[in-house]
Formats: sequence, structure tokens, C-alpha cells
Amino acid sequence: MSDLQTVVHGASELVVGPASDGGLRAYDDGAVAVVDGDVAMVGPSDDVRREYPAENADSGIDASGQTVLPGFVDPHTHALFAGDRSDEFAAKLRGKPYQEILAEGGGILRTVGAVREASDEQLVANLTAQLDEMLEHGTTTAEVKTGYGLDTETELRMLDAIEAAAADHPVDVVGTFMGAHATPDGRDPADYVDEVIEDQIPRAAEQGVAEFCDVFCEEDVFTVEQSRRILEAGREHGLAPKIHAEEFTRLGSAQLAAELDAVSADHLLHANSDDARALAESGVTPVLLPGTAFALGEDYADPEQFRNAGAPVALATDLNPNCYSQSMGFVLALACNGMRMAPADALLGATAHAARAIDRGDGTGTLREGTAADLAIVDGPSHVHVPYNFGVNSVDAVLKDGAVVAG
Ligand code: NIG
Ligand code: FE
Repeated sequence: MSDLQTVVHGASELVVGPASDGGLRAYDDGAVAVVDGDVAMVGPSDDVRREYPAENADSGIDASGQTVLPGFVDPHTHALFAGDRSDEFAAKLRGKPYQEILAEGGGILRTVGAVREASDEQLVANLTAQLDEMLEHGTTTAEVKTGYGLDTETELRMLDAIEAAAADHPVDVVGTFMGAHATPDGRDPADYVDEVIEDQIPRAAEQGVAEFCDVFCEEDVFTVEQSRRILEAGREHGLAPKIHAEEFTRLGSAQLAAELDAVSADHLLHANSDDARALAESGVTPVLLPGTAFALGEDYADPEQFRNAGAPVALATDLNPNCYSQSMGFVLALACNGMRMAPADALLGATAHAARAIDRGDGTGTLREGTAADLAIVDGPSHVHVPYNFGVNSVDAVLKDGAVVAG
């Protein structure tokens, strides 16, 4: 007979996940019982407590006045980096464009320099610190990209660091190889793309940490054709495609994502309704990153066109030195206040739909019988309070596989 671990009960609202009509399924005065790390039952507190008396549990958690959510899923981060780019923040505020900073060897390329110089231990410590902060903010599953090595040796070191940091951390980490993040060392991009395809991708795939291959398809970075070759090569080696699409310029990268049946297309600041339809038809999850638009002073993406096309919108932090936030709660505030998303849609975007964007659409980001008991207990009587009460960390406690890991 299995052990009853935890019963969280009395929550003003307990969010389960998407309802069959696409809305949010939730219980008032809800409870969740955890057995062996998994959700054994969710429902109204009275029903759950009858079946699973809190007195029999290792721990009973009274969540009255609070809201229980599935732990946040952050499906797009560059959380592993080194160095400090706060001076670029000041330069951007004075009006210097992101791409100009990159063209001068700053931005991504500057972080590449710092990562190449960092020791393996330093890389693991840096990522661990970021994961700690994410967990405190309610994230229980996160994607982490490489892309600050931009040579085979350092890209593989990044993957090793992702594996090592993840091994000792409650956050579930999903690795993405992104050797095509920029062209390093003043090299010819065509020549660098060949290296990514012929050397980096096979070695990264063999190393086994990455599940996805991502590319920054952008003017003066990688063309649609180069991106296609890179993503096809990734797929041949078992890495499913993701793409940084239509961020500063509309190049046709969203259409490429649709054509390749990518797992996700991310950013999409300049995507139009044709792109949205193409993504929806191919089952590609659009990932919107309002923190990036906020940090760059750009116009937000338009979530409405994806919704109208029938593509469930996912949200992510894009945590990186240009968009420095670990907080999915802050992303929800931007999604609502900046992109005018309904709080329920934003919450689904940060949980169940985010899970789809990293191929975890099997239950991650939801709380129902049999899913991992990954949850965040937040202050406030409903999920609406997370974006409504912006600028604070509403997360009071985080449970991973039923065990309290933060708060
Ligand atoms: O998703 N757009 C490209 N890559 C990152 C930024 C990385 C950086 O500036 O270090 C992004 O925003
Ligand atoms: Fe990114």
C-alpha cells in the first residue's frame, strides 16, 4: 500500500488545468492529495479529505486564503550564462538598438566571451543560482538553451553544465542545443553554419543532454535557408526543432517552423495572422516572451491572432542577460497588462500550454490524477491575483513531486 505524503487543502481556488472548452478548470475550496510524489486526487476539499484524511498524511498544508496552481513551466530560457551586461541595459535606455550592440561584438557575443572563460564549476554554480531563483518564483519545469559557447568544446561544456546543475536541482530541466545563436569570432556565417551542422549537432546529439535544436533566424544573424538546414540536421540527429522567429524582422521563419512541424516558434513580435494560421495548422506552439519586448521597448506580440487561429499560446521568461527576469509571475503581469491576455489564458500559457512547447503536453503543467505533484501555493484568493498584484513574488510555497522545496 502506498504512503500518503501530503494533503494540501482549503485553497480558495485550486487550478487543475485546461477545461474541455479551452478555459480554465478550477475548484473553489479545493484540495490535492499526493501519494508517492504524484497527484492521487484533486477536487473539493471535503471530497478529498474524506478519501485522504489530512491527519494520515506526512504533512497537511492548510492553504486557506491562498490559491494552488500547477507549478509554472518556463519553456524558453537562456538561463546558463556568465558575466554582467548591465552596462548594455543603460546603453539601450539611451537608445542604442539591441542589434547594433550585437554587431559591435556586445550582446550575445560578449556573454560568449564570459562563458568561454568560466570554469565548469562556475557554469554549474551560475545555472544553479538561476534555477534557485526560478523555483522561488514557482517554476518547477524549465527549458535551458546553450548558445553562449559557439564552438564545439564550449557548447558541449554548456550541455554538461546543464546536466550537472539539473541533477542536483528540484526544477526539471529540459536542454536545448543552440549553437546557431550568433556567428562568433568574426567568422563567415556560411562557414560557421557548416561547423554547426557537421560538427556541433552530431556531437551534441551524441552527448545526449539536449532534446531540441534551436536557431536565431533573424536579419544579420541566420537566414531562413540556413535555419532550415540547421533544423533539418538537428532532426536527423534526433533533436526536435524550435526556432527564434519573427523577432525584429518578419523573414518567413514562422512559416519555416510550420513547414518543419517545429515543436515551437518563439518571440513572434512581427508574425501576422497568416503565420498564426500556419502555426496552428501544423500544431506548432507559439511561445510569446513579453519580458523581451518590455526590456527592449518593442511592441508586444499579438496573442489574439494566435488564439483566433486556434493555436494555444505559451508564455516564457526568455531569461537571459538582455531580459533579466526569472519570474513567470512577472511574465503573467506583462501578458495581461501589456498584451491584454485574460488572466486565465495567461495562466494556461505559463503551465499546460508551456508544457506543449517543450513536448511535455502529457500532463506537465496540470494537476490531475497521475500527474507529478508539482505545484505552487500563491497568496491571494484566485489565480487572477498573480498578474493583478504585480511586482511582488506571490509564491508562498512550492512542491515538487509532493515535497516542499521552496517557501
Ligand atoms: O531570445 N534573440 C536571441 N536570443 C536571446 C537573447 C540572448 C542575449 O541577448 O544574450 C533572446 O532574446
Ligand atoms: Fe531566446
